[in-house]
Amino acid sequence: MDGLACEAGLLAAQILSPGERAHWDSMRAVEKRRREWLMGRAVAKEAVRLLLERDLHLHLAPPEIEIQPDAYGCPQVNLVGQAPSPARGSQPRCALSIAHSDGAAVALASLAADTLVGVDLEGLSRRREDFEAIAFSPDERSLIAALAPELRDEWALRLWSAKEAVGKAIGRGLTAGLEAFHITKMETSTGMVTVDLQEAALAQYPRLRGQSLNVYTARESNFVFSAIIYQHGVVRMRPSRQEILDYLLQKMGELTQDWDYTDPVGPESKLFTELGFESLDAVVLCTAIQEHYQTPMPFAELLAEIGEQQRDLSITELTDFVNAHLGAADGTRRVQ
Ligand SMILES: CC(C)(COP(=O)(O)OP(=O)(O)OC[C@H]1O[C@@H](n2cnc3c(N)ncnc32)[C@H](O)[C@@H]1OP(=O)(O)O)[C@@H](O)C(=O)NCCC(=O)NCCS
Repeated sequence: MDGLACEAGLLAAQILSPGERAHWDSMRAVEKRRREWLMGRAVAKEAVRLLLERDLHLHLAPPEIEIQPDAYGCPQVNLVGQAPSPARGSQPRCALSIAHSDGAAVALASLAADTLVGVDLEGLSRRREDFEAIAFSPDERSLIAALAPELRDEWALRLWSAKEAVGKAIGRGLTAGLEAFHITKMETSTGMVTVDLQEAALAQYPRLRGQSLNVYTARESNFVFSAIIYQHGVVRMRPSRQEILDYLLQKMGELTQDWDYTDPVGPESKLFTELGFESLDAVVLCTAIQEHYQTPMPFAELLAEIGEQQRDLSITELTDFVNAHLGAADGTRRVQ
């Protein structure tokens, strides 16, 4: 909000519906909370507006996209003046989640049917001494303790943030209690965190019984954030090229651990001449990559091509190959 050119009152006049404006005017909260609420509304309306334009060719102004909390505080979207039409049926249903922290706000929206979304944002600069004793169970704390010391604070915040994102996705926040959002796995190379709901949370959202929830977490400058898009048990999130490279380097480190290879494995390392790969190792690696990204890729052709040309393959080249094939279809991919 500090970075915005216009003053809060002016922004409110531009983006809020009359009902939202009345709420903002009567909001009895500290100025920081009022500003964060407004900023959350600004980014949420923008997310919904862009989605409606892109997917439904529906052009609405921000005040026509009204956001009201339900009885539990979960934001609900109402498109003002969009009466159900015979052509479109009922109003498009939009799942929405909002988070704000330290003067920044994020929103995540989806028009896909039967989708849950949850997003959370946490500032790293705020001191939170020893919140872990209350926030996490002993086995969650041991996941954090197993990390390199310099990663622990950031990952403790990521795990907390993942719980909040899931709480928002099920529409009840963390009211089921922190232990009801149990973290069973985390992967530092991809940022993925797995959350298993316990009984108290399942009682609030029984449809998720038996499902492990995958939450994507990341760090950007002084913030960590988490996002979950849940549809039929998968998270749809296209990994960045850097995340693919990090994953491949980690995988390569694991594979070569038992070999007598002593030099560090880096992006320019060559699989066959430098790392000592044999054909079968390459096939094992390719299978692991496909499974990890839940996406078939034409590895057989790639391996045949490099065999024909009698050349080697660097980790960078492999990263570009995976990146190209993950982006080939619809820009979204299943990441487990
Ligand atoms: C809902 C909750 C997860 C929000 O977390 P937070 O760190 O306070 O605030 P964030 O900035 O991350 O998110 C705030 C947004 O969450 C959204 N939100 C609030 N309740 C929600 C719910 N039940 N479901 C989904 N989203 C919700 C709102 O959009 C809110 O922003 P807004 O009021 O400006 O619209 C958290 O406050 C909560 O679970 N509260 C109830 C239980 C509780 O207080 N537990 C204490 C745990 S120690």
